[in-house]
Amino acid sequence: MRPRILVFDSGMGGLTVATAIRATLPEAELVYAADSAAFPYGAWAEGPLVERIAMVVARLIDEIAPDAVVIACNTASTLALAELRRRHTVPFIGTVPAIKPAAAQTRSRIIGVLATRGTVAREYTQALIHTYAYHCRVILHGAPRLAEMAEAQLAGAPSDLAAIAGEIAPVFREIDGARTDVVVLGCTHYPLLLGELEAASPWKVSFIDPAPAIARRVGAVIAGLGDGEGAGRSRPLDGLVCFTDRREPGAAYAAMGFDRARILAMPVQS
Ligand code: DGL
Repeated sequence: MRPRILVFDSGMGGLTVATAIRATLPEAELVYAADSAAFPYGAWAEGPLVERIAMVVARLIDEIAPDAVVIACNTASTLALAELRRRHTVPFIGTVPAIKPAAAQTRSRIIGVLATRGTVAREYTQALIHTYAYHCRVILHGAPRLAEMAEAQLAGAPSDLAAIAGEIAPVFREIDGARTDVVVLGCTHYPLLLGELEAASPWKVSFIDPAPAIARRVGAVIAGLGDGEGAGRSRPLDGLVCFTDRREPGAAYAAMGFDRARILAMPVQS
């Protein structure tokens, strides 16, 4: 079986998830899609963003005909996953902040969650905290520019450790002699900056990148599809990246195995 998997994000963040899927399922045909015309999602209001994601994902499903869709974006998953499942029969795998593993791992019971301002504001994120981390102090922080900084750095801009330190500082807390010891990377862009995040941290913490867990989940969903889907298919779309505005894949996408672009122009109405 050669399943065709569509990995969707607003920008380059989902590449961290695509790379983990590639390692887990080397036989899969991977297509990447970035809603580049609408990046960054973190700044969007909820109503227009659900409609935007629904519109772009519907177009992608029509064009690509995937066997499964990975919403490799916390900002989109915490908002639109239920709506996407309602509208389509193809299986969706989402990405939501890894609060459950963080609560299992922390010793100090002080957890930081770094995410976009959108993800931080979601009811879904609050529900994860109440369900899995009720016994912990959870410091939720919406980093205003960190996703854009990751995108710029991958496009070749020099890293600015002082600016990164400013973006992450609020999750490092010391309360009654105990300190934050686990930080959830609740945006798929952030693992792209892992080295810089470690260098900019005031003390050592465990950063949780959910990509390997998502890849395992994708493997389980694909195994559940049986032999029918994609059986015997060659992989004509493998390595394709779709953008919603006109651009070249560039070195960062090519380095992660996506070197052919298809433009599905979907401008954002203002
Ligand atoms: N990569 C996205 C996430 O996981 C969001 C980046 C953005 O578009 O603001 O939340």
